[in-house]
Amino acid sequence: MKDKYIVANWKMNGSFALSESWLEYFLTNYKKDPAINVSCVLCPPLTLIDDISANVLESAFGSVESELSQNDESIDDVQEEKMIELVDNFRFLKVGAQDCHEENSGAYTGSVSAEMLQEIGCEYVIVGHSERRKYQYEANETVAKKLHSVVAKEMTPVLCVGESKEVRDSKKHVDFVVKQLSSCIPKDVEIAKLIVAYEPIWSIGTGAIPTVEEIQEMTNAIKTKLNEDLSSQVKSFSILYGGSVSVNNSAEILSAKNLDGLLVGKASLDAGDFFEIAKQASKA
Ligand code: PGA
Repeated sequence: MKDKYIVANWKMNGSFALSESWLEYFLTNYKKDPAINVSCVLCPPLTLIDDISANVLESAFGSVESELSQNDESIDDVQEEKMIELVDNFRFLKVGAQDCHEENSGAYTGSVSAEMLQEIGCEYVIVGHSERRKYQYEANETVAKKLHSVVAKEMTPVLCVGESKEVRDSKKHVDFVVKQLSSCIPKDVEIAKLIVAYEPIWSIGTGAIPTVEEIQEMTNAIKTKLNEDLSSQVKSFSILYGGSVSVNNSAEILSAKNLDGLLVGKASLDAGDFFEIAKQASKA
């Protein structure tokens, strides 16, 4: 499996019309461009997940069918297990959610659980995004429970961490993020794969981005913490950067050491921009 990721976070944006044209562009261009070697994950609003998963699967199925016909083979001749493998190779986009509830079910009006997300084709779930921490008052303790529920359903958590402007100005940002990381990782759970997204709050949606050296300072600290204190819980990990990523700055950001990809907000709503960012990540 590819260990580099470009994750799209559409936040509360998008419609069926947008997802249809977005997928059309992304999947058509991906098929033409074998150079893409990063895993691309789309986290749309909940209402679109099911439809997007189905469209990606249908497109993959179509690609398998045409490849088989080029070799004078038919789908009916292929065994089920082999078919699953073939279709998976052509699933150029993975689907994720932007949040989940920490419980599997219960009286939590308006909430959706990890189990429900898995059922509609999610393979990734973002947890601890700073907008949820701010507007839904999510504390590290809740984020850790959510992460646990995602792992229990064999999906990959994308854990967001990041400091405010005040914390950075007081030069306590590294300590803050490292503490946030350990508080959000449940103690009693083995996590086969964790994606950590370093997203400084002061950079999200503002156009302000840290320097490559500032990103490296943080990715090095996150890597050290995961490799040392948290190695019994976290078996493998990738570290992403998020915050005002665009086609114009992604190549430079990706030159940071110990960085395995990007979490892209606003720019990911444009399929052309997202595809270009994935191409740049494939070269990095
Ligand atoms: P942005 O958002 O790219 O629009 O700054 C990133 C995020 O919040 O994940």
